[in-house]
Amino acid sequence: MLEGITQKYHDESRQGEALMIENKVDKVASRKLYIESYGCQMNFADSEVVASIMLNNDFQTTNDFNEADVIFINTCSIRENAELRIRKRLTDFKAAKRAKPGMIVGVLGCMAERLKSKFLEEEKLVDIVVGPDAYRDLPNLIQSADDGQKAVNVLLSREETYGDISPIRLNTNGVSAFVSITRGCDNMCSFCVVPFTRGRERSRDPQSIIEEIKDLYEKGFREVTLLGQNVDSYEWENETKTEKVTFANLLALAAQVKSEMRIRFSTSHPKDLTDDVLYTMRDYENICKSIHLPVQSGSTRILDLMNRTYSREWYINRIDAIRNILPGCTISTDIIAGFCSETEEEHQETLSMMEYVKYDFAYMFSYSERPGTPAAKKLKDDISDDVKARRLAEIVALQRAHSLERMKEHVGKTQKILIEGFSKKSENDFAGRSDQNAMVVFPVNINYKKGDYVNVLIESCTSATLIGKIIEQN
Ligand code: SAH
Ligand code: SF4
Ligand code: F3S
Repeated sequence: MLEGITQKYHDESRQGEALMIENKVDKVASRKLYIESYGCQMNFADSEVVASIMLNNDFQTTNDFNEADVIFINTCSIRENAELRIRKRLTDFKAAKRAKPGMIVGVLGCMAERLKSKFLEEEKLVDIVVGPDAYRDLPNLIQSADDGQKAVNVLLSREETYGDISPIRLNTNGVSAFVSITRGCDNMCSFCVVPFTRGRERSRDPQSIIEEIKDLYEKGFREVTLLGQNVDSYEWENETKTEKVTFANLLALAAQVKSEMRIRFSTSHPKDLTDDVLYTMRDYENICKSIHLPVQSGSTRILDLMNRTYSREWYINRIDAIRNILPGCTISTDIIAGFCSETEEEHQETLSMMEYVKYDFAYMFSYSERPGTPAAKKLKDDISDDVKARRLAEIVALQRAHSLERMKEHVGKTQKILIEGFSKKSENDFAGRSDQNAMVVFPVNINYKKGDYVNVLIESCTSATLIGKIIEQN
């Protein structure tokens, strides 16, 4: 099966990255923890909650898994390839465990939830299997593993949001951070494993979200991304049901924390993206004008089979609303090539949708059937790998052209950039993002540092990066 192709930074591009944890706990810790995370931003945010729980239980961290006492791998099940990569990585960990008796290997996250105790049968050297809602139980599970028992907790919860746990920021640039606002998903898109691995949707108490944003600001962060599988369905009511907070309300509250704190969010579902949200974005300068609106397919028949609950026309209406209310807002998307029974004409409809929107960037995937999903039960995965690959290649080629076209529109303009640090290639250049989420690289100026905003004149571009120079402010 083909791996999904991503154009810019994405969850997938971060797969396999080792997370280094800054140990902020002063006491002498006796055991060493290594965590590696795969999958989406939510999984990375969850690893920060796990790190917090573990550091409060006398662990310190290491970025060398060979010297760890406990190895956690936080897993993803979204496509077959994601799981294959994790299986492969587990063989490295199992070798380390053979060399160091007593070492504990724990599998966390979505693949743990999908396979449950089967994981322990299939991967004999794994000691602990923990689903996304059971991380508070980790210290007990480690205790069981220490006592020589295999330990599993894959209970899903209707309430758990980890709202009271202060995440330990991992691999952070000290400027941008993720803040989870919802967990789970109630949508049941037919291709998707997430409702099974993450359970029912629940929203986190707004007060704890705002407190977390304030705390991040005080620690020097200048950008937060509010995370959820479907952020627009965020809804919180107090116990007496006298107060209700929608996603638009939450966005406004977040924006009011500090005007120098940028607010981003991901992911929006086309069926739930309201004009209210768009007007709130317009009203606050610090809510970034960039929306990730996964289309999946341009064909109404395929969208129906996917159970996305919107039509091509509805999606186009949402795009028109964004263009009208937020001129200049960038739009990105996710596309699946070769879903069950997709005809050549329906594939063409996806290409024509891309022509209509001209996305700034896109994450593009071949359909990968996931066991237990509605599509796996009811539909036939009948598009051959060759056809999927060819359709995906056409989508990718078109997107590449559109990305370049969109990037060129920024050239000649001055944009406000939040400096994230040095560019990957050279310490002579800074890198940062524009409000519209484009990566911008420009020569270092000693008057500015990481976390500062600067005005940058964009002089040239590639399909992924803008290149410019700082324009001094008087
Ligand atoms: N909650 C988000 C997306 C979560 S998964 C949303 O609803 O938009 C990220 C992306 O992975 C999806 O948008 C979809 O494009 C892709 N994806 C999910 N399941 C897939 C599958 N079985 N095969 C291929 N791509 C898939
Ligand atoms: Fe999956 Fe659909 Fe939920 Fe996104 S909205 S996580 S694609 S079920
Ligand atoms: Fe993967 Fe689970 Fe995220 S399946 S994409 S890690 S919600």
